[in-house]
Amino acid sequence: MHTLSLSHLLFCFVLFLLQIMEIPVIDFSKLNGEERAKTLAEIAVACEDWGFFQLVNHGITEEVLERVKKVCSEHYELEREDDFNNSKPVKTLNDLVEKNSAEKLESLDWEDVFLLTDDNEWPSKTPGFKETMAKYRSELKKLASKLMEIMDENLGLPKGYINKAFNGGGAAENAFFGTKVSHYPPCPHPELVNGLRAHTDAGGVILLFQDDEVGGLQVLKDGQWIEVQPLANAIVINTGDQIEVVSHGKYKSVLHRVKATVDGNRRSIASFYNPSLKATIAPALHLIQNINQAYPKFVFEDYMSVYADQKFLPKEARFQAVKAT
Ligand SMILES: *[C@@H]1O[C@H](CO)[C@@H](O)[C@H](O)[C@H]1NC(C)=O
Repeated sequence: MHTLSLSHLLFCFVLFLLQIMEIPVIDFSKLNGEERAKTLAEIAVACEDWGFFQLVNHGITEEVLERVKKVCSEHYELEREDDFNNSKPVKTLNDLVEKNSAEKLESLDWEDVFLLTDDNEWPSKTPGFKETMAKYRSELKKLASKLMEIMDENLGLPKGYINKAFNGGGAAENAFFGTKVSHYPPCPHPELVNGLRAHTDAGGVILLFQDDEVGGLQVLKDGQWIEVQPLANAIVINTGDQIEVVSHGKYKSVLHRVKATVDGNRRSIASFYNPSLKATIAPALHLIQNINQAYPKFVFEDYMSVYADQKFLPKEARFQAVKAT
C-alpha cells in the first residue's frame, strides 16, 4: 500500500513536470470572445516566461498551410536538394568521417536556406510556389501586426507603439518582412554537426511554420533545452532582440537551436517582422524604471552589422557593441 501511493505520487510528479515543460499553446480565436482577458494574460505569461509560444486557430486556413507545405517540399526536391548534396556542410562532414575524426563541426549548420522578401528574386521553376508564398506572406504579415498590438496592450504601451518604432516613426511603412525557407535534410552523423547552432534572433517578431512531424527545434528554458513539440498547423511565435530592447527586457529574446537528425527532412518556414534599417530602437520610455538602463539606443542597421559577425555569440555582447558606437 505504501509503495503504491509513493509510485503514484512519483507518476503524478513526472506528469506535472512534463506538462510545465511544454511550450505554451494559445488559442488565438479566443481573443475575440468572452475569454479575451484570459487569453491576453496567457500571451503575456508566454512572452515573459518563455519568449516562445504556439498559436492555434490563428486565422490562416488549413488550405493555405497545406499548399505552403506542398510547394516548399516540392521546391526543395526540384531546385535545392542537388545543390545541398554538393554543399560545404555535406563535403566537410564527409571529409571528417573519412578522416575518422570525432571532432564536432562548430562553425557549420546542416541547413538549406534561402530568403523571400518583397523585392528579391523568387524561385520560379516550382509550379504554384510564388503565388502560394505571396498569399501566405500577406496573411502572416497581418498576424504579425495583430501580435505587436497585443504586445503593446500587454506591456501598457499605446496601441501601435511597436509597429511605429519598427517603421522608424515615419509615415511610410518600411519595416522589413522576410521569410526564411529552410530544410534540415537527413544527416548521417548528427553527433558531428548542428542543424542550426544556438542563437537568438536579431529582429522583432518571428512567426514560424515548422514541420508537422520532424522535430528538432529546441529552446533554452531555465538552463534546459526544451523541444518545441510539433503541432499540426500551429504557428510558433518568438520574440527577437529588438522586442527585448523595446520592452526593456520584460520580453526576452531566447536562445534556440535545431538538432540534426538521421531521418526525416525537417521543413521550417520562419517569417521575420523586423525594424527598418533606419529605425532607431530604444527601450520604451514608459517601461524604463531606473536611470541605469541596461539596454542601449541604436540604429537598427548598426545592430545588424554587429549581428552579422556575432549571431552565434551572446546577445549581451551585441548590446554592448552597439552602445559603444
Ligand atoms: C542527395 O543525397 C541523399 C542522401 O545521400 C540522397 O538520398 C538523395 O537522393 C540525393 N539527392 C540528389 C538530388 O542527388
